[in-house]
Amino acid sequence: MPSVDTLIQTIRTTGAGASCTPDLAKGPWEFDRVTGYGPGSSMGDVIPVGAPRQGALPEQYRLAANDELHARIRAAKETLGSRVVILGHFYQRDEVVQHADFLGDSFQLANAAQTVPEAETIVFCGVHFMAETADILAKPTQNVILPNLAAGCSMADMADLDSVEECWAQLEEIYGAEPDADGRVPVIPVTYMNSSAALKGFCGRHGGIVCTSSNAETVLEDAFARGQRVLFFPDQHLGRNTAKKMGVALEQMPMWNPRKPLGGSTSEQLQDARVILWHGFCSVHKRFNVGQIEAARAEFPGVRVIVHPECPMEVVDAADEAGSTDYIRKAVAAATEPTTFAIGTEINMVNRLAAEFPQHTIFCLDPVVCPCSTMYRIHPGYLAWVLEELVAGRSPNVIEVDEVTAADARLALERMLALRPKPMPGDPAPASTAHAPAPRSREGVADAVVASGGPVGSAAASDSVAGSTAAAPNVEV
Ligand code: 13P
Ligand code: SF4
Repeated sequence: MPSVDTLIQTIRTTGAGASCTPDLAKGPWEFDRVTGYGPGSSMGDVIPVGAPRQGALPEQYRLAANDELHARIRAAKETLGSRVVILGHFYQRDEVVQHADFLGDSFQLANAAQTVPEAETIVFCGVHFMAETADILAKPTQNVILPNLAAGCSMADMADLDSVEECWAQLEEIYGAEPDADGRVPVIPVTYMNSSAALKGFCGRHGGIVCTSSNAETVLEDAFARGQRVLFFPDQHLGRNTAKKMGVALEQMPMWNPRKPLGGSTSEQLQDARVILWHGFCSVHKRFNVGQIEAARAEFPGVRVIVHPECPMEVVDAADEAGSTDYIRKAVAAATEPTTFAIGTEINMVNRLAAEFPQHTIFCLDPVVCPCSTMYRIHPGYLAWVLEELVAGRSPNVIEVDEVTAADARLALERMLALRPKPMPGDPAPASTAHAPAPRSREGVADAVVASGGPVGSAAASDSVAGSTAAAPNVEV
C-alpha cells in the first residue's frame, strides 16, 4: 500500500482518485506564512492571532528530492547518536515515521522523554501541544524541538486562556465557590491533552485535571468524585461521548460557546448541568458520518467499525467500538481471526495499520484522502533542517513553556498520571491486571512507548467509549 504522501503525489500527477485538495501535494513551506492551516482537514479553521509562524525553510531543503532528504536525515541522526531522540505521532506521514525512534499516541510520546534521559534534545514530530507537554514533563536540561512551528492543532486553538477564564468567572457567579455537603466543589475543569500549556496550567491552579482520549472516562470519574460538575474543553465530542457512556443525560450537557453570553445557555440549564461542553471539535474527525458506516456495512457484512471518540456522537453510537488511537491499534493487533475493520480516524494511521496487519482488511471510513493538515506540516524537509542545525551546534524551534505555567500544568498532568489504568485490548486477562499496581509514576507510564515498528505497549489509564451496538470480544469497555 502506498503511503498517503505517495498517494497524494500520484493524485496530483495523474488526476486519479480523490483527495480533499490536490494542494496537499505542495510542500508545507508554501502555506506556512499565510493565515490559515493550509490544505487538509483543518483548512477551514481559524488560526488564532499570535499562533507561531514558521520562518522560511532554506532553499536547499525545499528543493531537495525525497531520497536526498532521507539520506541527510539518516546521516545527521547517526552523527548526533544518543544525544537526540525523534518522537513520531501515529498520524504522521510514513516519510517522517520511518525516522522516528518512538511511535505512539500523544500521551505515550509526552512520557517518552523520560525513557531517554541521556538525550539532550527531543525532536517531536507531532503538533505544538504535544511538544509543549513533552517540555513540561522532560528534564529541565532537555530541549524539545518542533520541526515546523506551524504544526498546531486547530482543535486545541479553539479554547484560549482568556475565554476559559471569562467562562470560569461567569460560572463562579452562578455556582459560587462553596463545596456541597459531600465536600464536592461546584466545578472541576478538565482539559483534553489537545490544549495549550496555558490551559493545562489553568486546570492545575483550579483543582482540575488533564485527560487524553485513552483515559477520559477514568478522569471524569475522578472529577465527579471531587466536584459536582465538570467544565470540559476544548473537544465537545470527546466530552459528550464519554459522559454519555457514563450515564450523563444529554440535557445535562449544555454547550459553552465563548462568543455568547453564558455560553449560549440559560442559568437554569447551567444549574442543572453535569458536564459543560466547550464548543470545540476536530475537523478531521468531524468528517466521519453515519452514512459512511452504513455504506461499509452494506459492502462488507460483518465489518468491525471502530472510531475515535473525537467523532460526533451519532457516529460513535453507530460504530461497534470507539477508542483512542492506542485503543484502535491494540484492538486491531488483538484480533486473532482475519477481520474486516472500518476505522474512523486519521488516514496515515489507518493506512499504516493496513500495511502492518495484512491478514486483516483495514480501510478508512472516509474514502477521501484527507490527512490532519496540521500534522502534515511536519515534512522530511523540516526534519532534515532541524537535525542538520543540531549537528552544526544550533537549536532551532525550541518549544519552551515558562516555568510558572509549567509548574501549574504539571499539577494537572500529574493528577492524571496518578489514576489507575483500565485494561485495553490485548492486555493480560482482568484476573491478572485487576489488582496490579497502577503506573503512578511518570517512569511507569513511560514504559508504554515502544520503538517504531514494534508493538505499542499499554498506556496509563486507558478507556474506550463503546458504541451502542455490540462491543467486540476481547475488548473491555
Ligand atoms: P491521541 O491522544 O490518541 O494521540 O490523539 C491525538 C489527536 O490529536 C487525535 O486527533
Ligand atoms: Fe488536532 Fe484533529 Fe489533527 Fe488531532 S487530528 S492534531 S485533534 S486537528
